Amino acid sequence: MSQPYDPASDGAQMSFKERMSYSDYLHLEKVLDAQAPLSSAHDEMLFIIQHQTSELWMKLALHEIGAAIGSIRADRLEPSFKMLSRVARIFEQLNNAWDVLRTMTPSEYTEFRDALGQSSGFQSWQYRAIEFMAGNRNLAMLGPHKHQPDLTDRLEAILATPSLYDEALLLLARNGFDIGADARRTDWRETRGENEEVLVAWQTVYRDPQRYWMLYELAEKLVDFEDYFRRWRFNHVTTVERIIGLKRGTGGTSGASYLKKMLEVVLFPELWTVRTRL
Ligand code: HEM
Repeated sequence: MSQPYDPASDGAQMSFKERMSYSDYLHLEKVLDAQAPLSSAHDEMLFIIQHQTSELWMKLALHEIGAAIGSIRADRLEPSFKMLSRVARIFEQLNNAWDVLRTMTPSEYTEFRDALGQSSGFQSWQYRAIEFMAGNRNLAMLGPHKHQPDLTDRLEAILATPSLYDEALLLLARNGFDIGADARRTDWRETRGENEEVLVAWQTVYRDPQRYWMLYELAEKLVDFEDYFRRWRFNHVTTVERIIGLKRGTGGTSGASYLKKMLEVVLFPELWTVRTRL
């Protein structure tokens, strides 16, 4: 009989007494110690891990969107393309994750739903930060975070600066396009309205991609991001309806009806309208 494979003989490091290990580097002790089910229901672990992993991916999405905003502002479009592609892939990954959660039936969820109290993804500050960074700035959504000044400050800091879409419009202006009222904005907290000049600018870009290739590519990266973000919202509401039907949410909204209304939110409006004009 052959000897079992010994990784040490292959050079694998086997002793970490005074060395940084995989676990040390990743702080796995902290990460893997952060699941604390409040009931004895088997499926609560799935529910917790699904949310925690989603929040980790959202953390990465925020990191990438923030850097993409900085790159566009500095007229460095190529790195921003890479970051925006990554954001779209993150949402694709999150979309696939619904398949795991969908294995939980309404009966299984009911076993621990009461333990959640009033907590809900509605209070996910990272999700709001993504929306705010992208350009969907509904100030009412600051409400659930008022009791945490540090988080409110982080969200306010995002609202004080141009969003991803605002930066794309400012880039159009730097390239000689008339962006109408968007060129005169000073208060970024205000929700901007769709405007004709911006639509005409995108129309010009889409009618002559060869001439405006970088702007055209940026526009398509933004549409790709929104496409995958919309799929996330759609998968969420479908999963929610499958699990709780038309019951109210733990966060207090009308539940699936509220989430269906949110499907109408558009992040980059002129980029969708322009398609009708081409
Ligand atoms: C059993 C699974 C789930 C159910 C039944 C559910 C249910 C709901 C409901 C009913 C709402 C509306 C707010 C409320 O009244 O509570 C909501 C919002 C939300 N949920 Fe979930 N959810 C589930 C899983 C998830 C997961 C895995 C995430 C990932 C982080 C998530 C993130 C969110 C976010 C970000 C919102 C706010 C959406 C918005 O305001 O547009 N949910 N959820």
